[in-house]
Amino acid sequence: MNTLKILFATPECAPWVKTGGLGEVSADLPKALRAQGLDVQVLMPAYDSVLAVAGELEALADLPAVHGFPAARLLRAHLPSGVPALLIDAPALYRRDGGPYGDPSGRDHEDNAIRFGLLSHVAARLASGVSPIPWQPDVLHCNDWPTALAPAYLAHGPQRRAAMVMSLHNMAFQGLFPLHLAAPLGLPDHLLHMEGVEFWGQLSFLKAGIQFADHVATVSPTYAREILTEPLGCGLSGVLNKRRESLSGILNGIDTTVWNPGTDAHLHQTYDAVTLQRKRSNKLALQRRMGLPENPDLFVMGMVSRMTDQKGVDLVISALPELLKDGAQVVALGAGTPAMETAWREATHVWPEQAASLIGFDESLAHLIEAGSDVFLMPSRFEPCGLNQMYSQRYGTPPIVHATGGLADAVLDAVSEPGQPSVSTGFKMKEPTVEALIHAVKRARELYADAGTWDTLCRNGMAQDFSWEGSAAAYADLYADLVARRAVAC
Ligand code: ADP
Ligand code: GLC
Repeated sequence: MNTLKILFATPECAPWVKTGGLGEVSADLPKALRAQGLDVQVLMPAYDSVLAVAGELEALADLPAVHGFPAARLLRAHLPSGVPALLIDAPALYRRDGGPYGDPSGRDHEDNAIRFGLLSHVAARLASGVSPIPWQPDVLHCNDWPTALAPAYLAHGPQRRAAMVMSLHNMAFQGLFPLHLAAPLGLPDHLLHMEGVEFWGQLSFLKAGIQFADHVATVSPTYAREILTEPLGCGLSGVLNKRRESLSGILNGIDTTVWNPGTDAHLHQTYDAVTLQRKRSNKLALQRRMGLPENPDLFVMGMVSRMTDQKGVDLVISALPELLKDGAQVVALGAGTPAMETAWREATHVWPEQAASLIGFDESLAHLIEAGSDVFLMPSRFEPCGLNQMYSQRYGTPPIVHATGGLADAVLDAVSEPGQPSVSTGFKMKEPTVEALIHAVKRARELYADAGTWDTLCRNGMAQDFSWEGSAAAYADLYADLVARRAVAC
């Protein structure tokens, strides 16, 4: 069979631009697919920040202005991993202050419909017979709402070629805009109804992707089931149920070369399952770095997270009086809503010797927290996949999670799910509540008191395989299947 060609469309890709897990997955999955022999190219906007670091650029094609989209250029660059990237250079849309989705104050860019409409439009064009470049993908893989109009364009545009996968990384973000933007977005009137892209009087990018892609993929099997009912379907569970035969979940992997306690340059001391006792000096380094008293015997809880409602950061804050009662420490790294950031700052004043936080983004500290904490807190209300619960297991730091989405799929807890897993790697809460969190931490501390049992728990986690290999193979099978079906249908 010929090498499968995959166009991976995304609004963010590490290390060039990353606001969360999607940026990491967009770097790691294409890299893992290439290692399995697929020909993958990443398509994304040429933001200022990307052009500044992308290195050598080659102009591939001019894209004329169309509908309400300005003229743009298609540039070729290479990610540090060697994966080729196609960058859409539309200076009026992508060269500006702020992040990919919002201005420096955090407000959404007001022309996001056109900014990501263009990304979707170019993706569809490259996957059609009217592509401006000779490289023709067999599969267009779209990721989240900023790329989700592409299936609508491709299904209803000229000369469709590629099969289409729509990946849902987070249903909470849907790309909802006023219906009158359909004209500048070039969406035909016949799509502006319930069976098309209309959602309660608005235009929904994500609904378009779900309706018109050949396959809808979520980033964990449990999340694929959860979104079939409300509230996690976020208003789209009916539409998803109609597509349930074409909906499945594939658990994300992690880059085990970057997240490897045996080689991690961000750590004070590297270690592995055999030299687990060395992990301790990372605890001291973490306490030192965060200005907390250095004491290896104190129980340290770590957290690295967007500080939003999704992540249950408020549950941790509410539980602090109980969690810190007998001398434990907590370290939090993250940025998010002003209320949650303020609450963390206040906590550090109330418990200066026990609570420390850094509000902001710090890759290096994220690694040290994974290595230096005794447990990792992730009580997310919902979590399509989540990456930190996998990092923490790899670092011998058992995670405490709410059993939802990828947290349910990637953590083993023989106590909360009797008869299911035979080993445990962490602690699962059945509900995302303050009481459940306090109870789970209590369970963890009881085990922690027994050094031998605790070491086994840590080593169980370190022995799990979270590499991308298996997940990439599952995507490769899915692509091959969709391509074969298209060949039969055409
Ligand atoms: P989400 O994409 O919903 O935010 P994920 O768990 O999939 O959640 O991915 C988040 C990624 O971003 C993780 O790698 C996490 O360590 C990282 N991250 C989040 N906040 C910070 C921060 N403040 N500093 C460093 N890394 C962070
Ligand atoms: C989203 C989800 C997160 C997932 C990530 C990558 O940001 O919130 O759970 O891990 O996408 O798929």
